[in-house]
Amino acid sequence: MKKNRQGGKACKDVTQPLTVGQVAKRSGVAVSALHFYEQKGLIKSWRNQGNQRRYHRDVLRRIAVIKSAQQVGVPLAEIANALSSLPDNRAPNSGDWARMSQAWLQDLNHRIETLTKLRDNLSSCIGCGCLSLQNCRLRNPGDSLSEQGSGARLIDPD
Ligand code: FES
Repeated sequence: MKKNRQGGKACKDVTQPLTVGQVAKRSGVAVSALHFYEQKGLIKSWRNQGNQRRYHRDVLRRIAVIKSAQQVGVPLAEIANALSSLPDNRAPNSGDWARMSQAWLQDLNHRIETLTKLRDNLSSCIGCGCLSLQNCRLRNPGDSLSEQGSGARLIDPD
């Protein structure tokens, strides 16, 4: 093992690209997931002369953004769209994260509101089971079918 001038372990060259195994180990993401992210356009690699994938080091920060966004339910397509607005080969910085997460916050709040309404409606259905088009807010939320006229609306006329 090489030693640096202070006698400690030598640092690895931080300018060197990473292999897929190194990215997987350092990010905690399976190689198959990395390939999936790449297929979806979330991360990028290139092939070296030996036809092996190589990644710029900024990929680790991009993966951290992807995993964090996924935890709050942001769809991969939206994450890919947000990451595509960043310059290539630059790690997302705190300003980038603030901008992306602010946009996702509104969507998250909307989903929480929708799920809260669904939960409340489900609470009134527990133990009922009628699934009535007239009375059940889960079956016919907001009585939207009444706007289509009276009578059965979900039955195909043929
Ligand atoms: S199942 Fe009866 S009100 Fe929803």
